[in-house]
Amino acid sequence: MFATSSLIFVKILAVLRGFAQVSISVGALALLGLYTYQSSLIYPASLNEGHGHCATPEEYDMPYEAVELTTSDSVSLQCYSLKHDPSAPNYTNKTVVVLSPNAGNIGHAMPIVQILYREFGYNVFIYSYRGYGKSSGSPSEKGLKLDAQRVMDYLTTEDEQFAASSLVLYGRSLGSAVAIYIGATMSSSVHAIILENAFLSIRKTVPHIFPFLKWFTACVHQVWDSESLVGSIPKKIPVLLLSARRDEIVPPSHMDAIYELLNSEDKTLQKFESSMHNDTVVQPRYWEIVHEFIQDKVNPVGY
Ligand SMILES: *[C@@H]1O[C@H](CO)[C@@H](O)[C@H](O)[C@H]1NC(C)=O
Ligand SMILES: *[C@@H]1O[C@H](CO)[C@@H](O)[C@H](O)[C@H]1NC(C)=O
Ligand SMILES: *[C@@H]1O[C@H](CO)[C@@H](O)[C@H](O)[C@H]1NC(C)=O
Repeated sequence: MFATSSLIFVKILAVLRGFAQVSISVGALALLGLYTYQSSLIYPASLNEGHGHCATPEEYDMPYEAVELTTSDSVSLQCYSLKHDPSAPNYTNKTVVVLSPNAGNIGHAMPIVQILYREFGYNVFIYSYRGYGKSSGSPSEKGLKLDAQRVMDYLTTEDEQFAASSLVLYGRSLGSAVAIYIGATMSSSVHAIILENAFLSIRKTVPHIFPFLKWFTACVHQVWDSESLVGSIPKKIPVLLLSARRDEIVPPSHMDAIYELLNSEDKTLQKFESSMHNDTVVQPRYWEIVHEFIQDKVNPVGY
């Protein structure tokens, strides 16, 4: 009796151990896969025809210059530069730097560029992060930060017209993490910042999208720690926060927290109650709010 039951017990143990080993190795494999491939999960550069046709401003009847910038680690960045005539009496002397969201290519942003350039009269500079659109290399947090440095060097020291204008950073989703990075580390030539659906960090966003990953966020090596950086944006820089309250990707509470953490003397949180993550730009009053912010808070006021 005793012998049999202990034998059964040993057998059960063996089976259990087998299960545990299998599930541990499946789990380990899944985690290893996650660790290795997370860059392609976090930066789905091919999604939405990202590497397919990339519309140019010309297709939207806007004059532009195709600029190619080479980063400090030899990656080539595809950029569109759109300028107004600086000698025109209605020249605004303002440049909006568009920092793109995650999927797709900069061609997809042309309707937005059209509003900023044509309707509002601002110069616009937009570029593809490495690995996106026609830029070379592959995306990573470190790489996207080098891209941002290269672009800011160009805008503030190499191109006279941009350097002489007031720069407004306009970041959407992933682009707002880049905007916060620039605002916190290269702030001297930034005049204003607009953040749409920003996140505190990728680690704090992942469990919202994939609840089963909540125990493994330490394996997320693409961090984008905006939560720690945002307080370093100098207080003289006005910030406009545009928050989708039904955001299914980034919890809206992240925007509330970012608003609280900002030291800006002039900060505004605009909530779009029926907006999801990627339809904020089509919400009523969105563009009026953006335009008024740039007109009222950025030198020269009124333009
Ligand atoms: C200035 O006015 C002209 C003529 O109305 C217009 O074509 C041009 O786009 C305007 N420029 C800006 C920067 O708004
Ligand atoms: C354009 O804007 C820059 C930055 O705000 C400012 O230093 C410069 O004086 C402005 N130039 C003109 C002509 O308004
Ligand atoms: C949001 O994303 C979907 C799927 O990628 C796309 O079809 C749709 O056009 C996007 N909406 C806006 C307003 O960009």
